[in-house]
Amino acid sequence: MQTMDKKSIIADLKKVASAAELDQWYEKYLGKKWEITVAYKSMGELSPEEKKEMGQKLGEIKTEATALYEEKNTAFQRDAINEQLANDLVDISLDLPLVKTGHAHLLQKERRLIEEICQSMGFIIEYGKDVVTKYENFYSVNIPASHPATEMHDTYFLSQHDDQGDNLVLRTHTSSMQNELMKRYGVPLKTVVPGKVYRHENTDASHDTVFWQLEGLVIDKDISIGNFKEMMMSLLSAIFGKDTKIRMRPAYFPFVEPGFEIDASCPICEQKGCSLCKQTGWIEILGAGMVHPNVLKEGGVDPNEYTGFAFGIGLNRVVAIKYDIKDIRYFTNGDLRFLQSF
Ligand code: DAH
Repeated sequence: MQTMDKKSIIADLKKVASAAELDQWYEKYLGKKWEITVAYKSMGELSPEEKKEMGQKLGEIKTEATALYEEKNTAFQRDAINEQLANDLVDISLDLPLVKTGHAHLLQKERRLIEEICQSMGFIIEYGKDVVTKYENFYSVNIPASHPATEMHDTYFLSQHDDQGDNLVLRTHTSSMQNELMKRYGVPLKTVVPGKVYRHENTDASHDTVFWQLEGLVIDKDISIGNFKEMMMSLLSAIFGKDTKIRMRPAYFPFVEPGFEIDASCPICEQKGCSLCKQTGWIEILGAGMVHPNVLKEGGVDPNEYTGFAFGIGLNRVVAIKYDIKDIRYFTNGDLRFLQSF
């Protein structure tokens, strides 16, 4: 039977100065083979009184030594963590320069939103191409070569020619897709064409040489002006995010009969009168009309059986109205102050 001396066990423990020494101390006194354990095991040889006395004594030593051991162990672990933290220092509060990420252009974000609105209303989205034939841009939508309307659009002509020997052109309007879509999908048809269009003309706050349009074309049996009006109010209300009324005025476009100029209730002042709507409560927003029978025929659709409406919205104009942007040339001039504010 070993005699356990509490004082020397504790004194030994107090001298421990490292985690490794603490392990050694543990092995020596508390580990399986060692002193306190062995002392317990050897108690079998003692008389009941001695056993009781010894058991009590060992219990006290063990409790006190274990508590002290835990305390030291925790302290060493804490020291180890602190040391590691000091070595692997990453200061997350450091004020590093932010990495600049780009973002979509305001016009493109809005275009995407409008496409989603149109998709939810059942329109097929088509983009078409920027370089088209004179047939697509003019003749297929009832604008004959001799027609003054060809001059209405100041056209960029390319030096390349099509099969007919005509110069190719940069499309001046997205109506240039009407014919192709009628031929490709047949009728009934419900489609929108968002796309870039090009005009060779002087620029000012509301005119630019490149801008985005959204052409719409709906053809079915018994399509009426009433259908157009209802659809257009829903579309504009969704685009501006508020109830929008429309007003229709007669207008001339070769590809529709009758044709209309559409005004929307001013989304900025809600018709109270502001500088945008020049105090009238209305803003001119798009051209539209009932598809001309010649355009239907050219697209292979029988005008005696089918009717339809078409519309052309200037997307730059719509976005400029929505965000109160005074000059549409900001969309194309690459001014970072403008681009970064949206
Ligand atoms: N294509 C016309 C333009 O660029 C806009 C337009 C007007 C389109 C009336 C239409 C329409 O479909 O019916 O000025």
